[in-house]
Amino acid sequence: MKTSLFYYTGTGNSLWTARMLAEEISDAEIIPISNTSGDPIVSGAEAIGMIFPVHIWGLPRRVIAFVDALEQNGSRYYFAVAVNAGQVAATLMQLKKRMQARGLSLFAGFAVECIFTWYWVADLCHNEGIPFVLGHALYMKAIHGGKAKNDKIDSHKIAALLRGGMIPMSYVYPEKMRATRDLMRRRNHLMRKRSGLYAHIQNTNSQYNLPDSFGCLAVPKNRNGIIEQFEHPSVQESITADMEIIRSYDVILSQLEKSIINMAIHHDPVSYALLQTIPGVGKIIALIILYEVENIRRFACVQDFASYSRLVKCAKESNGKKCSSGDSKIGNGHLKWAFSEAASFFANNSDQAKKFLDRSTKKHGKSKALSILAHKLGRAVYFMLKNKEAFNQNKLLNL
Ligand SMILES: Cc1cc2nc3c(=O)[nH]c(=O)nc-3n(C[C@H](O)[C@H](O)[C@H](O)COP(=O)(O)O)c2cc1C
Repeated sequence: MKTSLFYYTGTGNSLWTARMLAEEISDAEIIPISNTSGDPIVSGAEAIGMIFPVHIWGLPRRVIAFVDALEQNGSRYYFAVAVNAGQVAATLMQLKKRMQARGLSLFAGFAVECIFTWYWVADLCHNEGIPFVLGHALYMKAIHGGKAKNDKIDSHKIAALLRGGMIPMSYVYPEKMRATRDLMRRRNHLMRKRSGLYAHIQNTNSQYNLPDSFGCLAVPKNRNGIIEQFEHPSVQESITADMEIIRSYDVILSQLEKSIINMAIHHDPVSYALLQTIPGVGKIIALIILYEVENIRRFACVQDFASYSRLVKCAKESNGKKCSSGDSKIGNGHLKWAFSEAASFFANNSDQAKKFLDRSTKKHGKSKALSILAHKLGRAVYFMLKNKEAFNQNKLLNL
């Protein structure tokens, strides 16, 4: 059976859904719903699928025009997919009625919910001057968890929390730097994938009991001769594959870094430069802190910032007794990572910091000593960004 999949999309989700469907259905073609001139839309297919986003609880105008122009052929199989962000509302009923009025029957309708799509609502509210509150998914789950749960109960509880000032709010990251923050996060994700490949090469080396003579694989010249040191052709092939992918990652990552740096210079050159005054903090760590923080004034005090950056432990106490240390996943993991890295680099690049770390290690052990240094750095960054001043090592280390 030949199927025509007509799609309309704003941000690409419906096109993606259409492509996925086309992969599953044999003999399917994907056709965009373009501006109709009013002439009947004719298709030789036995089944017609319509894939479109929900816009303001209903059909987008262009989809309405498309349905109104559809050739009247009652013997065809019609189905629809309404791609939405959690509020499909009566969109499919609207479509059904619209089609019925033209003597066509909608045989099946599906709603596909896309998450992480609060951006457009936030921007819409911002442009229209409507206050927008973003609930923190993790805390909301804990607060309004109940025996029965559905959209009606959820919305009632969220409204009650909002009225009582108890809604756990998330920061609505402004549109201006949002896309670059997401690009930075993507870059970090890819960078970790590349590190996984380095680890595979190192592990294979240990597996075959070979000397670890090549050093740090992040330095391209250290990668020479690694493949040849394995005897078996299959192992060589496996390492060659790793190397090829690493080379591609190198090119992509350096391109991404260049673009993000250009954006940072455009968005906030002062903070970007200030962050790099910390010994050992280079472009990447500075970029992560810059884009994850966005505006330091969103934190009322330094303690809030340290807590958000996961630099302090969650404390739980009842009846004078301390309970378990709480959820370590609360806060921003990207900042936690950046400050941990910054602490190690700082200790490697400053004699005074190294001395401080050694003293602290004797007292608390290596890992806690690094956490203490990371916490101190976090506090320093808060004041640097707030007061627009360069890093002061003496102040940080009480020298
Ligand atoms: C102007 C506008 C209005 C929207 N209205 C709704 C809505 O009422 N209900 C909903 O669930 N999603 C709504 N959305 C979100 C989209 O349906 C959702 O993000 C969808 O995945 C977008 O698909 P697309 O990438 O194919 O455009 C709206 C999006 C826009 C741009």
